[in-house]
Amino acid sequence: MGDWQKAGWRSKPRVQMPEYTDLDALHAAEAKLSKYPPLVFAGEARRLKAALAKASRGEAFLLQGGDCAESFDQFSADAIRDTFKVMLQMAMVLTFGAKVPVIKVGRIAGQFAKPRSAGTEVLDGVELPSYRGDIVNDLAFTAEARIPDPARMLQAYTQSAGTLNLLRAFSSGGYADVNEVHRWTLGFTEAEEAERFRDMANRISDTLDFMQAAGVSSERQLALRQVDFYTSHEALLLEYEEALTRVDSTTGKWLAGSGHLLWIGDRTRQPDGAHVEFLRGVQNPIGMKCGPTLEPDELKRLMATLNPENEAGRLTLIARFGAGKVGEHLPKLIRAVEEEGANVVWVCDPMHGNTIKSDSGYKTRPFDAVLGEVQDFFAVHRAEGTIPGGVHFEMTGLDVTECVGGVQAVSFENLSDRYHTACDPRLNASQSLELAFLVAEELTALRNDNGSDRAAAAR
Ligand code: PEP
Ligand code: CO
Repeated sequence: MGDWQKAGWRSKPRVQMPEYTDLDALHAAEAKLSKYPPLVFAGEARRLKAALAKASRGEAFLLQGGDCAESFDQFSADAIRDTFKVMLQMAMVLTFGAKVPVIKVGRIAGQFAKPRSAGTEVLDGVELPSYRGDIVNDLAFTAEARIPDPARMLQAYTQSAGTLNLLRAFSSGGYADVNEVHRWTLGFTEAEEAERFRDMANRISDTLDFMQAAGVSSERQLALRQVDFYTSHEALLLEYEEALTRVDSTTGKWLAGSGHLLWIGDRTRQPDGAHVEFLRGVQNPIGMKCGPTLEPDELKRLMATLNPENEAGRLTLIARFGAGKVGEHLPKLIRAVEEEGANVVWVCDPMHGNTIKSDSGYKTRPFDAVLGEVQDFFAVHRAEGTIPGGVHFEMTGLDVTECVGGVQAVSFENLSDRYHTACDPRLNASQSLELAFLVAEELTALRNDNGSDRAAAAR
């Protein structure tokens, strides 16, 4: 990366970024942020990269999840705890299905900036600039609120630091004990409508009982009461990202200090654009969203730019096509990756291609479409002989009513009950755990298939 500079993105075409009008305020915020400590440490980012390298080979599985957009108003310890808790439950169920370690990465502690499909919003005949996430402007529908305010970057930093502090405490302070996590899950499977998942939950109970009897317990094994939990967000607001980018003294390489894994959105992955330019130069593991408009040649070019050394774990490709569209788009991209011999982690985001507008005006996502896209993703990988490396969800540990369906059956009429997202609709705690059980079933089926292939080869 000898030719790379952290401000190099400034001379490239940029999209989806705010036009700040108060440049003095912008420079003041950038100057402050550049003096603040980074939120993550290079050794952690390297550890995550090594874990993702395993996922690229099928030796680990990625669970990435959290809010579509974090919000200043809804910042609370309980919300962080509840999302962390559901992710641990999901990870345990997925570990049981996959029989490999599950890498836990939150869309959290930095997931504030949002790309929008339209630059303006119209309400009752009034047109205003779109809301672009709390790090940029305010959701309130007034002209004043929609002016991009650079000081919001400092508040986003402070909230991220507080969030990360709590996550670190939960990860190592005893809250993540496997027995506790499983007990919460049993609370879910006890409900009549979740009966179908009881058998798997009981098998996990048996496994824990056996381990306990054999002397493998959380009192004795650190690994059973602590977890590695990483942070991630879309690296959209490059002024913020640049200000937190530092040289790592151990390796002399650049590290984006705002989070462990940063991704490029489906709207900002132009090969000659500002976002690709910025992310190519930092050593963090990075992700890239792959939507229906991505063509194989462009993917090849992006892989060469973003991962020129073909380092395993560096690049995660997050496929988001929509249920029923995976078969049309994913195979040709998988083949492009195979032709290049590129090391990537293939991840399924079944959220962003499945957003619909309900009659009442709420944006929602049907649980069955979300599940359907995950199943299509697994089926395509099975047909291509490649590895499904993880899943990416917009979810919360709170009991919201934003996506329809699931065993608790959120209906279109229910949407207005507890619809709190600042941006896209999220799976609630019950829907998230239910989905984890269903993905675990896919992983079990895949393992059984591979097992019988191996047995056949051995005969
Ligand atoms: C997101 O992840 O919230 C998002 C905007 O995704 P995409 O870039 O895939 O549309
Ligand atoms: Co979203």
